[in-house]
Amino acid sequence: MSRAAKVVASLSVEEMTERQSRSEHKRLADEIARHDKLYHEQDSPEISDADYDKLRRRLKAIEERFPQLVDMFSPTQRVAPTPTTAFAKVRHARPMLSLDNAFSDEELQGFVDRVRRGLEREIDLAPDAEIALACEPKIDGLSISLRYEDGEFTVGATRGDGSVGEDVTANLRTIQDIPHKLKGKFPGTIDVRGEIYMERAAFQEMNRRQEAADEKTFANPRNAAAGSLRQLDPEITATRPLRFFAYAWGEAEPRPWKTHSEYLKLLRGWGFRVNPLSQLCRTPEEVLAYYRQMGVERPSLPYDIDGVVYKVDRIDWQERLGFVSRAPRWAIAHKFPAEQARTRLNGILIQVGRTGALTPVADLEPVNVGGVMVSRASLHNADEIERLDVRVGDMVVVQRAGDVIPQVLGFVPEERPKKTHKFHFPTHCPCPLETPVAAEEGGVVRRCSGGLECPFQQVERLRYFVSRGCFDIEGLGGVHIENFHRDGLLKVPGDVFRLPEKADEIGRREGWGKTSVQKLVAAIEARRTIPLDRFINAIGIPLIGEATAKILAQEYGEVDDWLDEMLKATRERAAYEGLPKKEKAAAEVGPSYGRLCNVEQIGVTTADAMGEFFREGHNVEIIRDLRRQLTVQPVTRRVVADDARLKDKVVVFTGEMTSMTRDQAKARAEELGAKVTDSVSKKTSLVVVGENAGSKARKAAELGIPTMTEEEWLKLAE
Ligand code: IVH
Repeated sequence: MSRAAKVVASLSVEEMTERQSRSEHKRLADEIARHDKLYHEQDSPEISDADYDKLRRRLKAIEERFPQLVDMFSPTQRVAPTPTTAFAKVRHARPMLSLDNAFSDEELQGFVDRVRRGLEREIDLAPDAEIALACEPKIDGLSISLRYEDGEFTVGATRGDGSVGEDVTANLRTIQDIPHKLKGKFPGTIDVRGEIYMERAAFQEMNRRQEAADEKTFANPRNAAAGSLRQLDPEITATRPLRFFAYAWGEAEPRPWKTHSEYLKLLRGWGFRVNPLSQLCRTPEEVLAYYRQMGVERPSLPYDIDGVVYKVDRIDWQERLGFVSRAPRWAIAHKFPAEQARTRLNGILIQVGRTGALTPVADLEPVNVGGVMVSRASLHNADEIERLDVRVGDMVVVQRAGDVIPQVLGFVPEERPKKTHKFHFPTHCPCPLETPVAAEEGGVVRRCSGGLECPFQQVERLRYFVSRGCFDIEGLGGVHIENFHRDGLLKVPGDVFRLPEKADEIGRREGWGKTSVQKLVAAIEARRTIPLDRFINAIGIPLIGEATAKILAQEYGEVDDWLDEMLKATRERAAYEGLPKKEKAAAEVGPSYGRLCNVEQIGVTTADAMGEFFREGHNVEIIRDLRRQLTVQPVTRRVVADDARLKDKVVVFTGEMTSMTRDQAKARAEELGAKVTDSVSKKTSLVVVGENAGSKARKAAELGIPTMTEEEWLKLAE
C-alpha cells in the first residue's frame, strides 16, 4: 500500500475528508474484489471471513457518510460477485466477412474483370453493361456489429473470428455516434455494421492525458480504439473519444434497399454517421481517380485510412457473385502502398532530453516514405536496439504511420555488410562534460547523470521553458536558444528575463536587427506575469506536464504557498526515507507530504519525482530566481460554499445551447458547486438538454435521471 493510502487507512471514517474517503473507498472496493476473486474463482482465500466482513463494513460506513460514492460497481451494489474477467460471446446472425486486398492498379483491374466474368456467367450481362462500384475510404479501426430490434439497440459485438464476437454492448452505448433508437422507417431486425475508430488529434490528446496520469498510452489510433472498446468498465470507455461510421449490414429483415448507395442513404436517415467521402463510380477510370483523390486527401483527413473499399453497388449482383472462403467476390480493398522503405543506416545518434533521458535515433540515408523524405527515425531505447540487432551500415526498413515519428522496423539480413559491430549503448553522455550514464532502476531509460550541469539538458530545458504550453515566448526559437546558450547569454530559465538588459548586445549579433530585437524584448516583457499552472509546467519537473501542473495549481493556489509546501513535503519525505525499514511500516508521513500524495491524480510516484527535484538546491534556486523577476498569478481554488445550489451534484450538458456556450454553462455549474461530466451514468444527478440532443438525453430517460430544458437551467443558474 502507498504511504499516502496508509495514512488514510489508519483514519476512522468520521475523521476523513471527502477526498480521503474517495481514495479509501477505491482501495477497499479493489481489495474486496481481489478477495472475492480469490474466494470464488481461485478457491484460495487469503483472509478470514471476519476480516473480509470488516472490509465490507468499513466500505459501507464510508458510503453512508458519502452517498455520492455509491455506484453500480461498488461491492455493496452487487448481490453476488460477478466474474468480470471476460466479455460474453455473441454468435453473429450472419458472419462478419473480411476483404481481399488489391495492392496495385493491375490487381484492381483483375477484380473488375473477375466481377464482369462472374456476372456474365450468372446473368445475361451485356458486354458493355456498366458495373457501378460504391467507393468508400477504408477506415483503420475495428469493425463491429450492432443489432437493432424494432429500432432499439439491443446487442453490439466485436468481429471476433467472424462467426463469434465479444459482447461489448455496455461500452458501445457510451458512444455518441451510435443511436440507441433508430429514426424513421427501419427494418424490424437489422445488424448495422461499421467501423469504430479514433481521430488522430483526439488520440494524441488522450495519450497526453494518459501519460500525465501515469496510465497506459497507445502506439496508434487503431490500438487506442480497440483498447478503449475492450474496457471492462464502460465508464472508462465513456471517457475515450471513440467514433463510428456505418457502412454494412448483417441480418436485415425486411431488406427493401436495392443498392449499397441506397442503403447508405437509409443509414443516414436512421441516425448513423456515414462517411461523406463515399461515392458511386461508374467506370474503372472514375474508380482509379477516386483512389488517387483519397491518396491525396489522406494526410489531411482527421482519421487514419489505409486504402479504399469498392463494393458492387447492386445487391442482386452481390448475391449472384457470393463469397470465396471468408471474403465477398463483390468487394475488394484497394490498399495504399505501405508507407515503408529501405535505406542505409549511417549512424546511431544519441539525443539528450530535458530530463537527461538518452534516446537513440537512427541517422538514415534520406529516403522517400509515402511521399515524405525521412532521414531520422526513432530507435526508442537500448533494449529496442538490442532486440532488433540493427547495426551501423545495415540496410534497414523504415515505416511512417500518419503523424507518428518514423520507426526502424528491422534490418535486411542479406544486405548486411561484412564487418558490422553490435551497437553498444554509450556509457557516457555525448555532451562535452561526458558525465556517466545511469540505467534507471527497473526501467529501460538511461539517463545522463549530469543534471543541471549538462549543457545538452540545459538547452532542452530552455527550449521547453519558452514553448507553447509554458512561457510561450515568440521569436525565441530552438536555434536562437542554442546560440545564446553557446555564447553564455542563456544558461538557466531566469536568464530569459535578463535578455532585455542585453538588447544592444543581441542587436549586434548576426541575423538580428532592430525590429527583431524589439519584438523579442516585447514578447519577453509580456510574459513577466504568468498564471501559476503555466509557471509550474514551465519549470520542467519530471512527470509534471500541463495537466498535472493545473491540478497542483488548483490545490495550492499561490506560488509561495506551493513552494513552501513542496519544500516541507521534500523534508518530510527525506525524514521518512531515512527511517530504518522496520520503523517505516508503523510511521506516519508528515502532513505536507501526505497532502501532496493525496492530490487528485498525483499519487506517490509523481510526488516522489517532485521530492527528488526539490531536494536539489539548484532546482529551488532556479524557481526563486524566476520568482524574483516575475509576477505569478494565483489560481483561484474552487471553494464551494456549503449552501451552493448544486453542491455535490453531477451535471451533464447535451445538445446545443442557444443562450450561452457549453464552456460558459459548465463554468456556471461549477461555480454553483456541481461537477460537470461528459457522459450520463447512474451517478449523474441532472441532465440539461439543449436542442438536437441525442443519445445522452435518451440515456437519462432510461436511467430515470432528472432532465431540464435550457430555459429551466437558466432559471436555476440565475
Ligand atoms: S466492408 C463484406 N467497408 O476493413 C464487407 N470494411 O479488411 C466487409 N473496413 O473488417 C467490410 N472501412 O474492419 C468495409 N468502408 C469499409 C471499411 C471496411 C474499414 C475494415 C473492416 C473490415 C476490414 C476488412
